[in-house]
Amino acid sequence: MSVVEIQTKVYEGQKPGTSGLRKAVKVFQQEHYTENFVQAILTALGDQLTGSTLIVGGDGRYYVKEAVEKIIRIAAANGVGKLIVGQNGILSTPAVSTLIRKYKTQGGIVLTASHNPGGPNADFGIKFNCDNGGPAPDNVTNQIYELTKSIKSYKTAPNINIDITKIQTHNLVVDGKSFVVDIIDSVDDYVALMKEIFDFPSIKTLLQGSSSRPKFQILIDSLHGVTGIYVKRIFGLELGVDDASMVHVEPLEDFGGLHPDPNLTYAADLVNTVRNGTHDMGMAFDGDGDRNMIIGKKAFFVTPTDSVAVLAAHLDIIPYFQKTGIKGYARSMPTGAAIDRVAAKKKVECFEVPTGWKYFGNLMDAGRLSLCGEESFGTGSDHIREKDGIWAALAWLNIIAKLNKSIEEILKDHWITYGRNFFTRYDYENCAIEDASRVMAEVETKIQDPSFKGTKLSSGNKVYVVGEADNYSYKDPIDGSVATKQGLRVLFEDGSRIIYRLSGTGSSGATIRLYVESYESDPTTFDKDAQEILKPLVGIALDLGKIKEFTGRNAPTVIT
Ligand code: G1P
Ligand code: ZN
Repeated sequence: MSVVEIQTKVYEGQKPGTSGLRKAVKVFQQEHYTENFVQAILTALGDQLTGSTLIVGGDGRYYVKEAVEKIIRIAAANGVGKLIVGQNGILSTPAVSTLIRKYKTQGGIVLTASHNPGGPNADFGIKFNCDNGGPAPDNVTNQIYELTKSIKSYKTAPNINIDITKIQTHNLVVDGKSFVVDIIDSVDDYVALMKEIFDFPSIKTLLQGSSSRPKFQILIDSLHGVTGIYVKRIFGLELGVDDASMVHVEPLEDFGGLHPDPNLTYAADLVNTVRNGTHDMGMAFDGDGDRNMIIGKKAFFVTPTDSVAVLAAHLDIIPYFQKTGIKGYARSMPTGAAIDRVAAKKKVECFEVPTGWKYFGNLMDAGRLSLCGEESFGTGSDHIREKDGIWAALAWLNIIAKLNKSIEEILKDHWITYGRNFFTRYDYENCAIEDASRVMAEVETKIQDPSFKGTKLSSGNKVYVVGEADNYSYKDPIDGSVATKQGLRVLFEDGSRIIYRLSGTGSSGATIRLYVESYESDPTTFDKDAQEILKPLVGIALDLGKIKEFTGRNAPTVIT
């Protein structure tokens, strides 16, 4: 097999966002566009590149197969020693992380635009994960981006044709050097890991029912994303869940036209079915399997902020943590602070990091973090270095099996012990970039005014006093690196918060995210609707950013 060097031109804008490079499929299909970015990833590996082993796989969306083919040829030509590729190019994001760690590879290339829609007219994405299994940190993604700005050529071995549909090892010789492509089962290693972590026998008893307890009925919705194949193996084969309880479990290139994002808006089918009351629990996952949504009987919604806090409170039930101990907790900055309260009570260290899973990695590698979460339906632990949807669902089931309570009872007990952090997020998707920038500039100007601190802001009969306000920056406690401009924060004296951020995962336009949180310790409030409790604060937030005025929108596109 011979290697050729292809002349290329620079494409603007190949800067990875919160989670990799995400663009419309049509953008990736431009001549050399994908190749440029893949070459930049490999070049950025530097000394590690020659003879390296990399994992390759994606969420099954449109263009994954073409991208895998290109990666195989470019990797071969660049001296990579071995690629481990999921069958049909399919691997969930948590599975890639699992494989990188298990086979101690130099990293992996994940082909996904996560929860963004798929298909020829929708989105694609490429993300690099490092040898710890986690998303590349800023210094690596910046280096990749710099390389894309000056790239002149890339190397490829155009004659390589590997059938990725069959599990098989291919031994090739490229330019005189050995090059191996191992097409593996997409699910095996991940299932093995889950079985090490959780008490499968007791989860199985819960799901099958026993003489002392009726069957715990679950409904799983994979939204036609990658988790379908994992769900069928783990829940179907291993745990005996019947087919009718697993829906949309065929991964489709366009996710069946669905928006594969597990929230109340996009997983409405699941929510509506569970609302009928036959199921004890509903769960949904996103396109690449790292996000999850958990609901209880009659669609009792567990906010991600609460979900991670409840897991934190009961983590010692899970066999994995009985072995490793609980090293620390963390959440992303906009995520409600419910887990902080658990940490304080249990005297466990708790960290706040910027938005994006990559910020948890260093803490985990340093042995200071066991469990973490983001309000954006991300929950996970140090078993890998990605958030993990199926892991979260199994963690809940393991805890339910042990506590023998409903999800609603578990939540209510939790609030009695710790109080309740009411949380909501408003998304204004696809705004004009200028409009979104005006909102951010408006807030930033106001909060920078020295007199802003101490200001009383009111809405209806509620008055909030500003304690602190800033543009959030974070210093990584492990390597000292600093991430600035991570979101505008208005922190009130009573602990309530308003946060404004622009999304870093969109493929076009701008999405404003508005996060609003307040804490209540009065049990009479616990059953109230979050929107009702947070209404005054939301009103203040909308006014402060002049959101209606600048965006022309009367309402957000998604409320969670
Ligand atoms: C969003 C979420 C963030 C998550 C990321 C990747 O990023 O807000 O928590 O880590 O997707 O799943 P954003 O679009 O806000 O930059
Ligand atoms: Zn995802």
